[in-house]
Amino acid sequence: MIGIFDSGVGGMTVARAIEKMLPAVSTLYLGDLARAPYGPKSNSAIINYSLENSKFLVDMGARVIVIACNSASSVATDIVRREFNIPVLEVITPAVEQAVSISRNGRIGIIGTRATIRSGIYEQKIKALRPDFKVYSQPCPLLVPLVEEGWNNKRETKMILRRYLHPLKEKQIDSLILGCTHYPLLKHLIQPRIGKKVHLIDSSNNLADSLSKFLTEHPQLVEREEPVQRLHFTTDITETAQKCANAIFQRSITLRQP
Ligand code: DGL
Repeated sequence: MIGIFDSGVGGMTVARAIEKMLPAVSTLYLGDLARAPYGPKSNSAIINYSLENSKFLVDMGARVIVIACNSASSVATDIVRREFNIPVLEVITPAVEQAVSISRNGRIGIIGTRATIRSGIYEQKIKALRPDFKVYSQPCPLLVPLVEEGWNNKRETKMILRRYLHPLKEKQIDSLILGCTHYPLLKHLIQPRIGKKVHLIDSSNNLADSLSKFLTEHPQLVEREEPVQRLHFTTDITETAQKCANAIFQRSITLRQP
C-alpha cells in the first residue's frame, strides 16, 4: 500500500495521478485538514505534523510514503526518512528534474508557500544538478486561501497574481515550477500573466511517474491486494473537502477520519 499525505485536499491531485498511473496498487490518502494550512507555519510545526501523518500511514500498512505537500516535502523529508525505515518520495525532486531538462535559457522561477520558499530547497536541488542555472523564487502566501475560497477566476486573484509574477517575468524565466499543491488550479491565470512561452511545471504527474519507476525497481514493495484499496482520510471532514475530493477524483469519495 502506498501512503500519501498532504496538509489538506490539494494533494489529492497527486493521489489521483498515482491511482491513474498505478491502477493495481492500493493507496491510502491522509489530508491533515484540521491543521492546514502548513505554508505559513514554522518548520518545527510542519515537521511534527509530518511525523504524525507518516506514523498514521505506516500504522495503517503503508510500505512507501509519498509527501504530496510541497511545504512538508521542503522541510520534513529528511526527518521522515530517518524516523521511518521505508522509502519516502516527495514532490520537489521530480519537478526539479523536469525543469532542468526542459529549460533552454537556464532561468527557472519557483512559486510556493512561505515555508517552501524559505527552505531554499528548490534552488539547492536545481543548483546541485546545474550550478550554472539561475533560480528566482517568489513566495505567494495569498494564493492558497484564494483557491480554497474558490476565487479561481476573480479580478482580485488576477491582480494578486500579476503582482507576484511581475518580478519573475522581469527575470525572463522560461520555466516556472508551481511549487504548491493548489497552484495547478490557477494555471489558466498564471500562463497568460507569466507569458505563453514559459513552461509551467506541476509535480503531480512527474511524481506519479517517479513512483511508478521506483516500484518497478523495487517490486517487493508492491503487494497485489484484491480488491485494490482506495482509502481517503482527512483529519476534519467539511462540505468543501467533500466537494473537492469528489471533483478531483471524479467520483464519489467516502472521506473517513483517523
Ligand atoms: N499543501 C501545501 C503545499 O503544497 C499548500 C497548502 C498549505 O499551506 O497547507 O505547500
